Amino acid sequence: EEYDLLVKLLVIGDSGVGKSSLLLRYAEGTFSEHHLATIGVDFKLRTDTVLNKRVKIQVWDTAGQERFKSIAIGYYRGAHGIAIVYDVTNEQSFNNVKNWLEQITDHASEHAQLILVGNKCDLDRERCVDRARGEELANSLKIPFVETSAKNSVNVEAAFSKVVTKVVED
Ligand code: GTP
Ligand code: MG
Repeated sequence: EEYDLLVKLLVIGDSGVGKSSLLLRYAEGTFSEHHLATIGVDFKLRTDTVLNKRVKIQVWDTAGQERFKSIAIGYYRGAHGIAIVYDVTNEQSFNNVKNWLEQITDHASEHAQLILVGNKCDLDRERCVDRARGEELANSLKIPFVETSAKNSVNVEAAFSKVVTKVVED
């Protein structure tokens, strides 16, 4: 298939925050209630037209589990964009964002376009990280922020396309 540009994205964050679910929603338009922890690294492809360019988007889905961290590190360097995902119902996953940012500082290109993603915004009653805290963190990092639901297909498209557009503009 013909394309003008290959954009490589990386999705990182704690285990269970919904990284694979976001990818599944973005690349295949589906959702599963089942958590099948990612082993090592996985990837999905999508093509899109962005700013009149045919873009092939390769999204690398990393495992959140600690024991796979070293495998993921090899994928940071080549990433044009990185989504740092936490779960709005999981305080720990939000606190750990700073650790994921450290990984980015240590291993990613300084030109990588970042976005902070608070996933599972459909779970209103279980929410413990409110929107303002996510926004505040993203503002302090000077990166975009979006709350998503992979389950209900809220903002998933927007989250990825925000990063892809920034990469294409660059
Ligand atoms: P690792 O591969 O272990 O790093 O986890 P992950 O971040 O890829 O999480 P995964 O996508 O496997 O999702 C974990 C669980 O959360 C699954 O049971 C999903 O069904 C559920 N889940 C993911 N996204 C959402 C969402 O937006 N809303 C709700 N309610 N559940 C979600
Ligand atoms: Mg996964």
